Amino acid sequence: MRLETPELIVTTTNKANREAVDAAHALAARYGLRFVSRESVKITDNGGAGSGVNAFSNLQEISPPLFLIVGNEQLFLQTPSGKYHFHPGMAALRVKRLVAGETDTMVSAMGLRPGDAVLDCTLGLGGDAIVAGHAVGDAGRVVGLESVLSLAILVKEGLAHYHFGYREIDEAMRRVTAHHASNHDYLARLPDRSFDVVYFDPMFRVTVNTSQGMVPLRELGNPGRVTKELVAQARRAARRRVVLKERRGSAEFARLGFTNLAGGRSNHIAYGYIERND
Ligand SMILES: C[S@@+](CC[C@H](N)C(=O)[O-])C[C@H]1O[C@@H](n2cnc3c(N)ncnc32)[C@H](O)[C@@H]1O
Repeated sequence: MRLETPELIVTTTNKANREAVDAAHALAARYGLRFVSRESVKITDNGGAGSGVNAFSNLQEISPPLFLIVGNEQLFLQTPSGKYHFHPGMAALRVKRLVAGETDTMVSAMGLRPGDAVLDCTLGLGGDAIVAGHAVGDAGRVVGLESVLSLAILVKEGLAHYHFGYREIDEAMRRVTAHHASNHDYLARLPDRSFDVVYFDPMFRVTVNTSQGMVPLRELGNPGRVTKELVAQARRAARRRVVLKERRGSAEFARLGFTNLAGGRSNHIAYGYIERND
């Protein structure tokens, strides 16, 4: 049983050059994290740390640390299960389909238009936010909230710097601003009608999804449920719609008052939405 939140430590890859070492120091300073030089940390295959960083890592009740590893080209997040880097994943395919004139069920459920402002309350790995970033175009904006610091940093840095090499995808990533924040706190402080669309994609669906791309989310994601109070705050902060992504047939839609449903491309997913003036 884990009793505490794992510490997040910044280090570099073994072959990091001077720029990467400087970038790692800057990253640690920016987020108030501990920097440990690579020579003094042994990261084993399963992500556990050797002596010098966490002398207690072999005691199960103390969480082993997580590492942000700065390389010459990329940033990695080392968790107990493996090493991950930011990637737009399925969002790249979804943006390409939109560019080709196809529809995207999430974009339709959100009713997105160019120039819209979207608040993604559950940023995760940023895929849905990137697709929204494409749909709102140059005049629009997307703000993403992630309560887990390690995920928030990995995705914030990736959205700002990752080069995919396909113009519309690179532009969509840059339109998303990520914040490390609890959506409860952030929504409570927002003035009425701040965003056109407020979006939730909670963890419940992910914990039953076995795909490889979801491993860091399953491992680290905040499993908190969406509450009625949170939906009420979202309705207040939305100008048009609040949207919830869930498993098709999920009882969450009725529990939280999402009476309008839009089906997904996949049979497993559905989107529920509430109009601001419902
Ligand atoms: C299913 S994932 C979202 C996946 C995302 N839509 C994507 O495309 O990658 C849910 C995310 O919301 C985060 N989360 C859960 N509760 C939160 C809260 N109260 N505030 C902010 N983020 C939260 C979790 O840590 C997790 O990363």
